[in-house]
Amino acid sequence: MTGGAGRVAVIGAGPGGLYFAALARQSAPGREITVFERDGRDDEFGFGVVFSDETLDGIAQADPRVFAAMSAEFARWSDIDVRHAGQVRTCGGHGFAALDRNRLRAILQRRCAELAVDVRYRTPAPPVGRLAEEYDLVVAADGVNSATRTAYPDAFRPELDERPSRYMWLATDKVFDAFTFIVERFDFGVLQVHAYPYSAERSTFIVELAEEPWRRAGFEALAARGFARGESDTASVRRCAELLAGHLEGHRLIPNASRWIRFTTVRNARWRHRNLVLLGDAAHTAHFSIGSGTKLALEDALALAASLGEQPTLEGALAAYEAERRPVVESAQRAAQASLEWFETIGRRTGQGPDQFAFNLLTRSRRVTYGNLRARDPGFVAAVDTAVTGAPEAIGTPPMFRPLKLAALELRNRVVVPPLATFTAVDALPSAFDRAQLTAHALGGAGLVIAGMTAVTPEGRATDRCPGLWSDPQEAAWRELVDAVRAVSDTPLGIQLTHAGRRASRAVPGPDGTGPPLAEGGWPVLAASPLPWDAGGPLPHEANAVQLDSVTADFAASAERAARAGFDVLELQFGHGHLLSGFLSPLTNRRTDGYGGPLAQRLRLPLEVLAAVRAVWPAGRPLLVRISACDWAPGGTGEAEAVAICRALADGGADAVDVSTGEVVAHQRPPYGRGYQTPFAELVRAATGLPTVAVGAISHHDDADSVLLAGRADLVAVGRAHLYDPLWTLHAAAEQGYAGPGAHRPEPWAAGSRRPPGPGSDRVAPRLRLVREPAPPVHRRWRPGPADRPVPARNPEEER
Ligand SMILES: Cc1cc2nc3c(=O)[nH]c(=O)nc-3n(C[C@H](O)[C@H](O)[C@H](O)COP(=O)(O)OP(=O)(O)OC[C@H]3O[C@@H](n4cnc5c(N)ncnc54)[C@H](O)[C@@H]3O)c2cc1C
Ligand SMILES: Cc1cc2nc3c(=O)[nH]c(=O)nc-3n(C[C@H](O)[C@H](O)[C@H](O)COP(=O)(O)O)c2cc1C
Repeated sequence: MTGGAGRVAVIGAGPGGLYFAALARQSAPGREITVFERDGRDDEFGFGVVFSDETLDGIAQADPRVFAAMSAEFARWSDIDVRHAGQVRTCGGHGFAALDRNRLRAILQRRCAELAVDVRYRTPAPPVGRLAEEYDLVVAADGVNSATRTAYPDAFRPELDERPSRYMWLATDKVFDAFTFIVERFDFGVLQVHAYPYSAERSTFIVELAEEPWRRAGFEALAARGFARGESDTASVRRCAELLAGHLEGHRLIPNASRWIRFTTVRNARWRHRNLVLLGDAAHTAHFSIGSGTKLALEDALALAASLGEQPTLEGALAAYEAERRPVVESAQRAAQASLEWFETIGRRTGQGPDQFAFNLLTRSRRVTYGNLRARDPGFVAAVDTAVTGAPEAIGTPPMFRPLKLAALELRNRVVVPPLATFTAVDALPSAFDRAQLTAHALGGAGLVIAGMTAVTPEGRATDRCPGLWSDPQEAAWRELVDAVRAVSDTPLGIQLTHAGRRASRAVPGPDGTGPPLAEGGWPVLAASPLPWDAGGPLPHEANAVQLDSVTADFAASAERAARAGFDVLELQFGHGHLLSGFLSPLTNRRTDGYGGPLAQRLRLPLEVLAAVRAVWPAGRPLLVRISACDWAPGGTGEAEAVAICRALADGGADAVDVSTGEVVAHQRPPYGRGYQTPFAELVRAATGLPTVAVGAISHHDDADSVLLAGRADLVAVGRAHLYDPLWTLHAAAEQGYAGPGAHRPEPWAAGSRRPPGPGSDRVAPRLRLVREPAPPVHRRWRPGPADRPVPARNPEEER
């Protein structure tokens, strides 16, 4: 079956184009394939490419001859070395296989020749429109600058995100014996190297700097002169060699068309248009720090060739190819995005000790976690644990179950149930459901449980089903609720106080998080500026001087009531577009008085509120402030402002910041994804020294442990996962085999401290091997020599 593709043109004889051509021909020998390549057959570009076993399994199965040829050339090892501040930390158990990119191309060229694929070198492809008419299928494997993609912008809808950091691909004749990250601080800033061996003679050596250090180091001036195609920036290469002489140990840096470039993440809304299809770098790129384009290009080639074989029509085959590959690629791109941003902002972590820094680096993309690393190299994680806690006895206690002292309050663990409004209040009184939910969460094992948004005035309610804390009956109801929870649990309880500002007077929200404006019974809405939340929303009144004073007084009065009601912790809502967030963000504060304009003035009301609350809130009880550290909209709060806000909050007496983002403007575009807000908690913690709470899509204990051990935050707030499972924290303890003081299980539930058995859980696997396979050693270094046993690659991320 040819999948409707009897005659195929391939643009580009990179690894993607060649591998596709070979597979597509091998699976349908009657198929005619012509590959156009503008460069010469023997033109050599690039250095080494790295694979994991996952990709290699696919290659082995698809074409054993290609696989055998590749295997014969592999450099194999399992260790990652992180060199930083004169120290080296090694983490084993990963598994890499690398080879020379040009040798890979030669293997694929040979395979194409065996299969009689017509590969035309030094032949730029004819115009793609013409090819599309002459061939059944045109595969555009024409690389990151794909002219095919550019020719059909409306069909493919490409999005090119050119990043600010500069990097340069180089080789060296120093043969590293492990994957090696070098992170060096110079007077101009931080410079990092991603280096890995790929043969008995060479290693790939990628030098990377954030934009500012690159300028300050003088590279901008050296790069300014412009270079011909194929020429290298030898002056910059020399300077890199000088700067990194200690790591090169007398070896050379070897350029090949090497110059400073900026990484461009390529995304396309569609990968196919009629009988044209994008493959490899033309369709998508993922930053080199987590996975090479070569690996993704080979996987694309395999999936496209398979789809052509499986589907009866060309249209069906191209649709199946895209449907199969897109989620895999998008997942790699999410990890790559987290990784490239980590390296762009590396300077905020270089103050960490060498162990924690190495752990932070290894977990940067969120694909590799505390749990993975503990399984791969327990010794490495134990060393990090000891270094971070200063206590060998911490080993065996997952980071989330380590205690923390906040002000005078001892938390038994690092898990917080963040404010989770129930929208069940009647007459602004906490409901029976509020009591049930807080009780469930208090019994569920978290170190701290915070009641949802509670208004300081009737107009400050977000909805007509929100509770308040401005009256005696409300105070009494909250006191009763706190007492009821206390009767069964000693878990500290907090409450979040708010004035919803322009987000007030809405109906209970639906799944998108915002309810419509109240049709009846709404109330006047107060805000920094008269800007409605959304088109149909009520027009807010700009707060006048008297109202500003009373907001401050209202917060202080509610805080006093919260203290009397017995709450251990108070959280002020300065985020999510509520009144005080509305003052902080430049997008929602257009005032021309002393409460608007520069940040110092936008901070004025929030700081007045903080001061008034601090004055009445008991000194030993923690006072938290939730902020939106980013608005996810152009012109919104930036990183520098978020840090300045947090410094001011620290000076104003906040004990910790609960670092959320967004919900400030309705037109926000957050990049939702696992732990997507955590980098902001890390930023604030590193810049201010204030304890931070990381929140947002942290739903698995492994993510929580990773965030904490990497020093990205002091506490992790787990919201929706606690609605899914109110005993989330206790279950996380059971799953990690932890039964220490950080996880308190109510005595009456002691019989349920282990996961109940299910079908198959009593099954014991019989021994089926006469000779046991020895477990692969944790640490394997690359030692050139006769082909050795493969090192299984268990790292889903380091699939360069
Ligand atoms: C300077 C540099 C060095 C790199 N080094 C490495 C490395 O050492 N290791 C690594 O893993 N990755 C490296 N990469 C990344 C890697 O090259 C790509 O991610 C990977 O090769 C993608 O494969 P591909 O087949 O999609 O595209 P490519 O390998 O880019 O192949 C595209 C091919 O299409 C050809 N082409 C383009 N337009 C036309 C046209 N109109 N007519 C005919 N031919 C055309 C190009 O000449 C090229 O050969 C490097 C990238 C760059 C830019
Ligand atoms: C049902 C629900 C109610 C929420 N109520 C509040 C609230 O009252 N105050 C607040 O600041 N955030 C509130 N949030 C946001 C959470 O505190 C948390 O920041 C968010 O859910 C992200 O964390 P998660 O991904 O772990 O759920 C609420 C979220 C949900 C799902």
